[in-house]
Amino acid sequence: MTAISEQKSQNMLDDFNETRFRTLELVKTLEKDDFVVQTAYYMSPPKWHLGHVSWLYEVILSKTVENYEFYSKEFSKYLNSYYLQFGEPHDKAKRGVLSRPTVDQIFEYFQTINQRVTNFLKNNSLSFKSQQLLIMALHHECQHQELLVYDLQHLLADQYRPVKKNSPPKHSPVEPKSVKVNGGLYQMGYSGNEFCYDIELPEHRVFLNDYKIDAYPVTNSQFLEFIESGGYEDFKYWLSDGWDKVKENNWKAPMYWEKEDGRWMIRDFIGKRKINPNEPVCHVSFYEADAYCKWIGKRLPTEAEWEKAVCWHEEKQKKTIFPWGNEPPSQNHANLLESYLWSCSEIGSYPEGKSPSGCFQMIGDVWEWTSSEFSGYPGFKTGFSEYNDKWFTNQKVLRGGSFATPKMSIRGSYRNFFRLDERWLFSGFRCAENV
Ligand SMILES: [Fe+2]
Repeated sequence: MTAISEQKSQNMLDDFNETRFRTLELVKTLEKDDFVVQTAYYMSPPKWHLGHVSWLYEVILSKTVENYEFYSKEFSKYLNSYYLQFGEPHDKAKRGVLSRPTVDQIFEYFQTINQRVTNFLKNNSLSFKSQQLLIMALHHECQHQELLVYDLQHLLADQYRPVKKNSPPKHSPVEPKSVKVNGGLYQMGYSGNEFCYDIELPEHRVFLNDYKIDAYPVTNSQFLEFIESGGYEDFKYWLSDGWDKVKENNWKAPMYWEKEDGRWMIRDFIGKRKINPNEPVCHVSFYEADAYCKWIGKRLPTEAEWEKAVCWHEEKQKKTIFPWGNEPPSQNHANLLESYLWSCSEIGSYPEGKSPSGCFQMIGDVWEWTSSEFSGYPGFKTGFSEYNDKWFTNQKVLRGGSFATPKMSIRGSYRNFFRLDERWLFSGFRCAENV
């Protein structure tokens, strides 16, 4: 068994402390009452997230430490999301009906797990395998930080007081346009040496025809034209299942939009405000993205087309991890959680985030729906049973991250996935077309 160096263990401990600190920072200004409430069956109370991310470290310790004893059977049942290998989980839709474990108990548990993981990292020469599992648990916590932000939007919106909040970047006005990308064989998947999820591997070749892709995500003003031309009232733009959802849920606009005195408004972290025409449209389902594309005579990109437009440098004939190269995202490249803007930025805000193909804001702001079904790449091998692999059905892939994605958990090859009618995430899209 190969052990990793002391320096690597120390780096992991630093990453662990930073991640745990950020989780606590997100809930620092909440009232105790806020921690318990579940506002919809698909949301989770903040106290559940705090406990669940801690519980997943226990899961990893149980796979690494001989005879590891979980903190509490009762906690494990409540905090297990969907891992049947650890017993029957508590009903997801009813996470907000339990007053026990209490908020104080969950905070105590959070600190106990900090201590257990710290001791483990300090006292063990870590095998490569346990290192990989612990890194996965860190990335899992990052995913939940983003989910927590979705929940805070649903629970509190402008009543939420973030610890850090920055002003939006200066931007120059830009016109929506599209760029042409050459087809041919493209080597898809993660090509770096750092952590990635099992679903980003193995790299494999896909054939693409030449295509065009929008240089910017579809904006609110573009989407408004679809609404105002009767897009939500005409079946001909919609997939059959999508049309059923429009009627069933009485959809007339993206989630969180409300019409007041003839004007579309949104209530979000920034406040109750008029729809900003230059921000990417957010909170649309796959069905709405697909219907817009049909209305305008285009289509959604496949995930391979999306990835090639973000990562491939035609002139240099090489692939990078991010549109701007291999260096990690900075606030000049993209709008991610650590930008602390708490909203999308207007298009034209990130000239330094440009991809070699000429696309902007592919990382950050909004997750972008693709037309691709979520499944394993050819030759897929599971990295952790039940984490990703049991969701290989009835979901579409989204790419690129949102303004709530922590920067350590995004890259060009990252694959997110949601059901086709879900729109509580920060989801938008850009269009593609054949040439
Ligand atoms: Fe989870």
